[in-house]
Amino acid sequence: MIKKQSIHKAVIPAAGLGTRFLPVTKSMPKEMLPIIDKPVIHYVVEEAVASGIDDIIIITGRGKRAIEDYFDAAPELEMWLKDQHKDATLKRLREISNFPTIHYVRQKEPNGLGDALLRAENHIGNEPFAVLLGDDIISNAKPCTAQLMAVYSRFTSSVISIEHVPREKVCNYGIIKGNAIEPDLFRIEDIVEKPTPETAPSDMGAVGRYIFVPEIFDCLKSTDPGVGNEIQLTDAIHHLLKDHPVYAYKFEGKRYDTGDKLGYIETIIDFALRDENLKQELMAFLRKKVHI
Ligand code: UTP
Repeated sequence: MIKKQSIHKAVIPAAGLGTRFLPVTKSMPKEMLPIIDKPVIHYVVEEAVASGIDDIIIITGRGKRAIEDYFDAAPELEMWLKDQHKDATLKRLREISNFPTIHYVRQKEPNGLGDALLRAENHIGNEPFAVLLGDDIISNAKPCTAQLMAVYSRFTSSVISIEHVPREKVCNYGIIKGNAIEPDLFRIEDIVEKPTPETAPSDMGAVGRYIFVPEIFDCLKSTDPGVGNEIQLTDAIHHLLKDHPVYAYKFEGKRYDTGDKLGYIETIIDFALRDENLKQELMAFLRKKVHI
């Protein structure tokens, strides 16, 4: 009998080279790009914590030390803010040091998302876990990871988040073929990494949130390098499907792909428009720019 376990561990892969953002990513992780005054990965950790995760492991690599520094405590800075009576700023800073302990493991070479995930195997052990990509923000009252956990608890099976993608963009995603069992829930039959629009089995692409049973690690180990000569998570999911059901869930919420230049700009504008201190002036600026 399959033992149902609750999910309390999450892996956040953040070791990619971020080539679409060169040259800035030469000395700065793309996961640390600011959305106004917080880095992208802050929102990702926030989502994990809001979903009930209390054990986080971030996969880092060369040039990614800024991520560890960001989540570390900053006693001197906190002391200075306290002396200056900058209480609001101090409170915001303390929110970061109050996150659960974050563990780090390095991926020595950026050999792909699948390889990055495999670095977390020892830490995760034999239990189901969540994966949140370090450059994808998903905004919703009920966090996307919590939505996937709810599906996991119904089926005790792996579940991945999906959204419709424009046909011309299917070549950037893992695309699923699935049977709808509810309007937003599919049992996956197959998944293909970066198909052409002509060969894509659907227009439903996997995005940056997943729940996996621990058997995914054996599948990752037996996965050969695929597209881009990288160990592709999509290919490992394809193997997992042989012996384990995998579900796909059309989550509620807005996804921001901050690893893409346009996606990054859209994220900043949307988040600034939600900020009461910035909204009015930004709207006036945008109106002037586009003459509406
Ligand atoms: P991406 O494919 O978007 O990241 O991976 P990338 O390769 O850094 O991007 P570009 O195309 O060169 O600009 C999604 C997530 O997986 C992590 C990335 O850091 C990102 O958060 N990743 C990717 C790894 O941890 N290791 C890898 O080898 C590849």
